[in-house]
Amino acid sequence: METDCYHSHSEDETHSFGKQFAEILAKGDIVALLGDLGAGKTEFVKGVCDYFQVEDIVSSPTFTIMNQYFGTDSEGEEITIYHVDLYRIDSPKELIEIGFDDCMFSQDAIKFVEWPEKAGDMLPDIHWTVDIIISPENDNERIITIRHPNKVMDHSLAENVE
Ligand SMILES: Nc1ncnc2c1ncn2[C@@H]1O[C@H](COP(=O)(O)OP(=O)(O)O)[C@@H](O)[C@H]1O
Ligand SMILES: [Mg+2]
Repeated sequence: METDCYHSHSEDETHSFGKQFAEILAKGDIVALLGDLGAGKTEFVKGVCDYFQVEDIVSSPTFTIMNQYFGTDSEGEEITIYHVDLYRIDSPKELIEIGFDDCMFSQDAIKFVEWPEKAGDMLPDIHWTVDIIISPENDNERIITIRHPNKVMDHSLAENVE
């Protein structure tokens, strides 16, 4: 298990970490986003969508559960980004109705899941976890830990660590 840890001092910095992280993602990847409400998970996804030149306004899927965005990857190919927020899901059964399975197994897309634990057994193997912790000392500071079970981390992100 490879792990990297970063400190963000602002919303913009978390956005920029998301944008840099996007560079190392591959189509088909599933990213679990961990952290309390207001940690910055959605802000991180906004940064990812920025990298993929998504033109739509990226907003929290708290009420819609699942948002879909279309972008362009570094090779100029179309890429789909799903941003799923399971906070309001009461039972994994509800996921069947919203097409969670189709979304998770879509090989042309990158999938982000907030509150992944709510999916229970319906969550397939994940490729990355991004864990955002609100610093107890500073309201605007976040500790972001990125884990990848297989691949060696790309340390280009580490340039921003202070
Ligand atoms: N360093 C930071 N990184 C991300 N968000 C921050 C940071 N500092 C303050 N914030 C604020 O925290 C909130 C994060 O919201 P959001 O991304 O929707 O969180 P989540 O999706 O985890 O519930 C925003 O209001 C943002 O302005
Ligand atoms: Mg969110």
